[in-house]
Order: sequence, then structure tokens, then C-alpha cells
Amino acid sequence: MQASQFAVLLWLSKLLKPDMTILDLGGAGGVFYEISKHHNLLTDSQHWHVVDMPRMVELGRKRHAKLKSTGISFGTKLGAAPASDIMLALGCIQYMRDPLGQSGPGFLDELEKAPDYVIVNKIPVWNKPDAWTSQGFITTACPYRIFNRNRLEDYFGARGYTIASSWHVPELDLRVPFHPECSLDHFEGFLATRDAREASAVATPLPASRRRKRHLA
Ligand SMILES: C[S@@+](CC[C@H](N)C(=O)[O-])C[C@H]1O[C@@H](n2cnc3c(N)ncnc32)[C@H](O)[C@@H]1O
Repeated sequence: MQASQFAVLLWLSKLLKPDMTILDLGGAGGVFYEISKHHNLLTDSQHWHVVDMPRMVELGRKRHAKLKSTGISFGTKLGAAPASDIMLALGCIQYMRDPLGQSGPGFLDELEKAPDYVIVNKIPVWNKPDAWTSQGFITTACPYRIFNRNRLEDYFGARGYTIASSWHVPELDLRVPFHPECSLDHFEGFLATRDAREASAVATPLPASRRRKRHLA
């Protein structure tokens, strides 16, 4: 387990109710579904839907057919995903072309219904302007975004969300060769809730003046 996954588990354990649907954007082969099952967070009445890239979806479907998993489905399009109560975006939106809708719909704008809760984890955030770098793998590389904090918060705020809780992701950092000024010692994660009253029921948001000094919330 990665350290920050416990924050996601904590919030899921507090927010999950019978009959809820969880939408897991960039959920790969259903890894967090399996972690949640392992920790007995899911019941038969809940449904988990993963949206990911076609090859990943194919592998996820195969894996869960083999495991005879129940209550999980896969798709490649956010716009075709079932309406959800909780959305997860774990280590994903930094790979998307336009997650904050600067030149089209952002990742929340394609959904049939806005989820009441969005849990984002493992994203690089700083106070400098948005930036792009590339993440290298052994045989390939892909564009990788670093989020400007205010723009990220404004995206959620404009859609009626409050950042109710946030945390550091100590297991991930950012190092760009030859650019020491583009370093991050940790990534971030947060819970956004759509209704301020519900947010205060699950967590006490920090006053705005303190939010800027700390990480996201
Ligand atoms: C670093 S992995 C994170 C996987 C998992 N959520 C976790 O926390 O371990 C990033 C995932 O995002 C997916 N992804 C990248 N771009 C995407 C996009 N535009 N739409 C949906 N998924 C995407 C990748 O295929 C990959 O499964």
C-alpha cells in the first residue's frame, strides 16, 4: 500500500453508503476496487465503475472476469459512465489533455451528474504557473502536468465544490533533470464535497487564509 492510499480509504469508509456508485477515473485494472474490497469497504449493493484507456479497460475486464468479481464495470468514456456519488481520480488527471477545461469540457464537465464527493490523490501541485513536463518510462514517455494551485481550486469552486480535506502524498515527488527549480518533495491529495453543509458534516474545512499557506486545503 502507498501511504496516501490510506487517506482515500479513510474518506471512502466515511462516505460510502448502501447503493452508492463509485466512478474511478484512471482506475487502471480496478486496483482501488480490489484494495477497497480487501478492507471490507464495499457491499453487494454498491457499484464501482472504472474509466480508463482502451487497453487498460480490456485488461481490467479480463482480470475481473477471471476473479469473478461482482459490482465492477469498465468503460473508456466519462460521458458514458453511470451517474456516481463518489468520484475517484487517483494519480490520473495529470495525464489528461485538458482536465480543467481550459479549451473544452474538463473532467467533471462530461459527467451525466456531478458526484457529491470527488477524491483526488497523487497529483503534483505548486503555486507557480501550470507547467508540463514528460514522464519517462523504459520505452516511451508521456506528457505530465503540474497544476497551479489556484487554478485547480478555482475549477472545483466554480462547480460548487469545497475542498473539505487535503493531505500530502509522501511517497511521490517530482525531479526534472537539469531543472532543480521544478522539484516537488511530495504530491497532494484532497476531498472535494459539492455541498458546503455536507462538507462540514464530514470535515471542518480550513479557513481560506490558512489554506494558501498549507497544501491544497
Ligand atoms: C499512474 S496510473 C494510476 C492508476 C490507479 N488509479 C492508481 O492510483 O494506482 C494512471 C492511470 O490513468 C490512466 N489514464 C491516463 N490518461 C487517461 C485519460 N485521458 N482517461 C482515463 N484514464 C487515463 C492510465 O491509463 C492509468 O491507468
